[in-house]
Amino acid sequence: MYPFREGSFAVRNGWYVAGFVNELGRKLLARTILGQPVVMYRKEDGTAVAVGGRCPHRHFPLGESCLKGDAIQCGYHGITFGPDGQCVKIPSQAHAPRSYRIPTYPLVEHGIWAWIWMGDPDKADPDKADPALLPDLEEIGAAGQDLVLRPFYVEHVKGRYQLLNDNLLDLTHLGYLHAGSIGTEDNASAPEELTKEHRVLRSRRYIRDAVPPPVVAQFNGDDIERVDRVIGMDFYLPGFHAGISDMQIAESNPVRQGEVLNRGRVYHAVTPETPTTCHYFFALSARTEEEVDRAFPYLQPVIAEDKFATEEIEKMLAIIGENPDELLIRSDRNAVEGRRMLQAMMDAEAEAPQGSPGR
Ligand code: FES
Ligand SMILES: [Fe+2]
Repeated sequence: MYPFREGSFAVRNGWYVAGFVNELGRKLLARTILGQPVVMYRKEDGTAVAVGGRCPHRHFPLGESCLKGDAIQCGYHGITFGPDGQCVKIPSQAHAPRSYRIPTYPLVEHGIWAWIWMGDPDKADPDKADPALLPDLEEIGAAGQDLVLRPFYVEHVKGRYQLLNDNLLDLTHLGYLHAGSIGTEDNASAPEELTKEHRVLRSRRYIRDAVPPPVVAQFNGDDIERVDRVIGMDFYLPGFHAGISDMQIAESNPVRQGEVLNRGRVYHAVTPETPTTCHYFFALSARTEEEVDRAFPYLQPVIAEDKFATEEIEKMLAIIGENPDELLIRSDRNAVEGRRMLQAMMDAEAEAPQGSPGR
């Protein structure tokens, strides 16, 4: 499916963000991920688990059911499943056959995120869901730095996940879609440096002695005329983007040159829900609690603009069909590379024998 080859939906053998860790508790949290209903919760000892979200009896949503100790009791006829997926009770009969079960999915708490592995859930091969494939927290600036990190928004987007990935892989949109807040035209004209690594794609733009984006005047007054900026985004395939947004007063200001206006990170996690919808988890770090507080309401409309663009394009695809020609321009290099890498991972999974790691 667009923009991938027909029949390709999404990479399955990879870690996706299923939620923020502070969303997980003793209340069942239901989310559809890669077309599969999933329910997450914490066991009584605090361990977070993810299991299939559909009762195999009559398909009642287990997210609408209730926890009995560490087990889920289906809200329809009371069949109960343990956190290992095993059916432990059928109220209408004495014996629960061992073959009655629901799927389980590896779920890892790493930083402020809970990461799920949806690949081949019923095949016993625990090495596949290797936590070593998770982004390194220090490398993405989410640990070991003196920054305050906070989960911001959990958005449901009525558009396919790759439209959001495309958005994050091409920041030339900042000066247009976000012209009123964080972007300037320099976001598009500054040269982009790209680096490709195994399952990581990095983009950097160094913008020197430039007009500040509108956010600077809003938070710092009108007297800052020129700034230096670093804009970066690292795509950790298949669905996590760690961004850098550093800004300081440019050298051309004789009095305040080098004064830091912004130092922090933004984190965008994009997780496929169905072929034409996705989940979008946004988090931010900054130097102080006050800066994080200030950013929360400020960035809400910015994220809404990205969501708007994504949903409008999805509507357009519904009108024009799945294989539209695209105008390719130079700044598409990063997005095209990201699509290629994802397609290669999907192709490898399609070729791999059932139950093998596919990577
Ligand atoms: S649908 Fe779950 S017990 Fe019947
Ligand atoms: Fe954006």
